[in-house]
Amino acid sequence: MKAIDIRNKYLKFFESKGHSVIPSAPLIPENDPSVLFTTAGMQPLVPYLLGQKHPAGTRLTDYQKCVRTNDIDEVGDNRHLTYFEMLGNWSLGDYFKEESIQMSFDFLTKELQIPVEKLSVTVFKGDEDCPRDEVAAECWKKAGILDGHIYYYGKDDNWWIAGEEGPCGPDTEMFYDTGKPACSENCQPSCDCGKYVEIWNNVFMEYFKDKDGKYSKLSQRNVDTGLGLERMTMLLQGKETPFDTELFKPVMDKIAELQKVDKIESRRIVAEHLRASMMIIADGGRPSNVDRGYVLRRLIRRAIRHMNKLQIDLAEISTLIAIYVENLKKMYPDLETKKDEIIAVLVEEKDKFVKTLTHGEKEFTKAMNNSKQAGKNKIDGAVVFKLYDTYGFPPEVTKELAEENEMEVDMKEFEELFKAHQEKSRQGSAQKFKGGLAGDSEIETKYHTATHLLNAALKLVLGADTHQRGSNITTERMRFDFNCDHKMTDEEKQKTEEIVNKWIQEDLPVTVEEMSKEDAIKSGAECMFIEKYPDIVTVYSIGDVSKELCGGPHVKHTGEIGTFKIKKEEASSAGIRRIKAVIGD
Ligand code: SER
Repeated sequence: MKAIDIRNKYLKFFESKGHSVIPSAPLIPENDPSVLFTTAGMQPLVPYLLGQKHPAGTRLTDYQKCVRTNDIDEVGDNRHLTYFEMLGNWSLGDYFKEESIQMSFDFLTKELQIPVEKLSVTVFKGDEDCPRDEVAAECWKKAGILDGHIYYYGKDDNWWIAGEEGPCGPDTEMFYDTGKPACSENCQPSCDCGKYVEIWNNVFMEYFKDKDGKYSKLSQRNVDTGLGLERMTMLLQGKETPFDTELFKPVMDKIAELQKVDKIESRRIVAEHLRASMMIIADGGRPSNVDRGYVLRRLIRRAIRHMNKLQIDLAEISTLIAIYVENLKKMYPDLETKKDEIIAVLVEEKDKFVKTLTHGEKEFTKAMNNSKQAGKNKIDGAVVFKLYDTYGFPPEVTKELAEENEMEVDMKEFEELFKAHQEKSRQGSAQKFKGGLAGDSEIETKYHTATHLLNAALKLVLGADTHQRGSNITTERMRFDFNCDHKMTDEEKQKTEEIVNKWIQEDLPVTVEEMSKEDAIKSGAECMFIEKYPDIVTVYSIGDVSKELCGGPHVKHTGEIGTFKIKKEEASSAGIRRIKAVIGD
């Protein structure tokens, strides 16, 4: 069965059970700066899971485009993907465990005709927050799951929540037995030897976890389910990896035809990252140095590096995208109209990266010749660091080039220098900030917090892709530059002012935490130049309206700011506007 047929069967089945088919939300969440990309079908539905009425009713189904980049470095193996499609069905305070489990069982065994012997399920084993899920286990037995095919696990396996806070609950997961031999007597669905593959997850969402880790009951009991389309397609077709299904195969074959060196991991990385980049660009994403744009840039650059490894002419990016569009346009009709735009964005980014690489390679050759002349067969870590720091040349590329030239590289020294540099720039940015606030003036601290509020308010008024491009604070005023393609209307200015003043009146708490840069990006924290920050960063949050990487200092509560007024809005440079604003008592 092809992926598109599985998708259609799914939507039709749930439609026949009273569900409304709703469209996939964009990959780039609307009005939600707290996450980078849509990572699950439930994400756009959070307000409705919390009790708001959905216009399409209490039973919904859809296919949802998703991107998850936590495992980006794992892509290249036989299963990890950053972009995938999730099929889902939801009960918003409508049916619960019994009906949900019966429908899943029927869909798997009747519609997809999976033999029942191949299915195992897991349910929540219970703890102090929530009882053992005997109800789900009973429902599975009643539906027809075989004896000995039901397993009980704890929160690590059978509890689902998006992030740290939000609607959540115990889940029941369905596993497909690939027929591979058991890896040991203890081989179970939780084991990742590859015998069992998770195919579907039904979450019984009746709890809310707050920031302090406390659970409370939601006003309604929901069901949230997710089935990974690429994985299901692979299993039903008896393939070893998703790359062997029709979703990737034409591109994988073309890459194999174009390559001059054979590397399966690189082929998968190129195919996977180009597909993910194409989908993100189609939904409006653009490469940049912040947030989503930074993730997209990493995906594209990683694809390019691996095209180089395979020795494929980078101009072939257009050929590969054209094949994807042709192949996937039935599933994603907008790809066809956006094809030229997608290719243009990829080619522009490729050209930028090629410049970085060319420049860096020249410098590398110089450094290598110097080493050789000095009678050394080793490139110093300091050289690797300089190439990285001055030319943005990735250290792994330096290493590869050195290997090609039969030179050694002191990566250990590089790592040490890198760490020391991070520590220095960390102290430096904190110091620089203090310097900017000479005299530790209270008023400048207030302006600084007001800057974060303005940044957040502009996103609400002008769109989530509005970002800070510069700022300057004196004791008299603040100046704030941001991307925006038009002169702000009076209404937009007024709205922005109102939002900031509302947040000031709400006297929101300002909190600070330290976290890894990666976690900060994942948490959706705003930041201007992610590459300039050290590995460990400080993140300032204002209530739940703003989250930014920043050295501080800030006021403790927004009420201290007093009032906020925009004095002027003007052009700063192409596509960049500037606001001058003042605060008062
Ligand atoms: N939200 C759950 C998941 O992502 C079910 O869809 O697994």
